[in-house]
Amino acid sequence: MTKAHIITFGCQMNEYDSHMVQSQLVSMGIDLVDSVDEANLVLLNTCAVRGKPVDKVRSLLGKLRIEKSRRPLVVGMMGCLAQLEEGQQIARKFEVDILIGPGAILDIPKALEQNGRFWSLHFRQELHDYIPPPPQDKLQAHLTIMRGCDHRCTYCIVPTTRGPQVSRSPDHILRELDMLLGAGVQEVTLLGQNVNSYGIDQGQRVAGTPSFAELLRMVGSSGIRRIKFTTSHPMNFTEDVAQAIAETPAVCEFVHLPVQSGSSKVLRRMAREYNREKYLEHIDAIKKWIPEVVLFTDIIVGFPGETEEDFQETLSLYDEVGYDNAYMFIYSARPGTPSYTHFEDLPRAVKTERLERLIQKQKDWSLKQNRRFLGKDVEVLLRGDAFNPDYLEGHTRGQHATIVPKVPGFEQAGIYTVRVEQVTPHQFNAKFIDAQGQVLEPILGHLPEAAALSSPLPML
Ligand code: 5AD
Ligand code: SF4
Repeated sequence: MTKAHIITFGCQMNEYDSHMVQSQLVSMGIDLVDSVDEANLVLLNTCAVRGKPVDKVRSLLGKLRIEKSRRPLVVGMMGCLAQLEEGQQIARKFEVDILIGPGAILDIPKALEQNGRFWSLHFRQELHDYIPPPPQDKLQAHLTIMRGCDHRCTYCIVPTTRGPQVSRSPDHILRELDMLLGAGVQEVTLLGQNVNSYGIDQGQRVAGTPSFAELLRMVGSSGIRRIKFTTSHPMNFTEDVAQAIAETPAVCEFVHLPVQSGSSKVLRRMAREYNREKYLEHIDAIKKWIPEVVLFTDIIVGFPGETEEDFQETLSLYDEVGYDNAYMFIYSARPGTPSYTHFEDLPRAVKTERLERLIQKQKDWSLKQNRRFLGKDVEVLLRGDAFNPDYLEGHTRGQHATIVPKVPGFEQAGIYTVRVEQVTPHQFNAKFIDAQGQVLEPILGHLPEAAALSSPLPML
């Protein structure tokens, strides 16, 4: 009897792919288990975007190799690292049995039927048509609308691991959405490396595909309560998307627009295809259409050649935009990327010191922006119990992690309106309200200082 355990690293794309693989395993009659100890098949869905997740995979595979010498155990590597020579070397070293690239995950059944080593790295076209069964008892789901990336940011390994952009047909997207709705999903996050160029693969409009703005409106009329999407590329951002967000009630007033750097010089070296001014124009358009927008970004600090002046420009751009939150990364030189080959890495100490200053800036702004919700009523999707089971946890339309004490009649997961009573840079503490708008006080009578969330910042 096969018992499988999947460990997922990296982005939501990987989570979606892991879900796809899980559903294939289940349809093969394989049991899913919650730990390595219970499993005789362990699959790692890997990430290669920075050095750290690669190191984690390496150390985990080291442990699994020891485990393999003690009992029957099949180990598989999937995801972005599997597609790279670097990952294949690691796989050989740690005696990985199954190696499957991100485009080949439909080969899992074949891999398991074969006794012995199985490697598959080709991209299978059927992947785009495959509709995974909806998740069970979940209020949120991901929906991939495209795979791969046509950009060539000099630091990024993704175009190598996931190949060129392929948009899924609107027909498949809407069919998958229907199944999610049927399973009770209330919030869907549309996924792509660069959703703004949906329907335009390698510069060509794909016959029969709408624009991303049109797709948002189509998804918005399906009856789903909330729609989010990630990630946008500023180069392909068009104002009709901001307008579609504003005019489609189900689309959350939330935009994640990675800037990477506030310095036009650094952006040029990153080959981001926009400069500081152009980026700020997009932000202006977004704020014009969606005055209440919650803005997230991604920032890389310590890109090769980044001077203190360049970094100051990132800090000043942060102030100019006033982001609600940011995912911040130290530049990681990835073999196979142009910046790894052509540029010299900055000293570690310079990079970490800049990251610390940026994190401080982010915390200040998150607190300041979160304060604008104090005393306000917000819509929150509560997905289940918090770390402390007297509370439910979830997130707002703007992706604020939120916890709410249970009160009689309000103990189940669902979408509710709650009143924000306390904010930190990381979290809202809120309470349920009744139909008259009165706060429903929990039996506890007060909110303990730190009723921890089981997961701090919800990744989109
Ligand atoms: N080093 C650090 N951060 C990176 N990212 C992508 N490649 C690298 C790298 N080599 C970050 C970018 C991207 C996010 C998903 O990961 O900010 O938006
Ligand atoms: Fe990487 Fe740029 Fe593609 Fe994003 S858009 S995955 S940063 S190459």
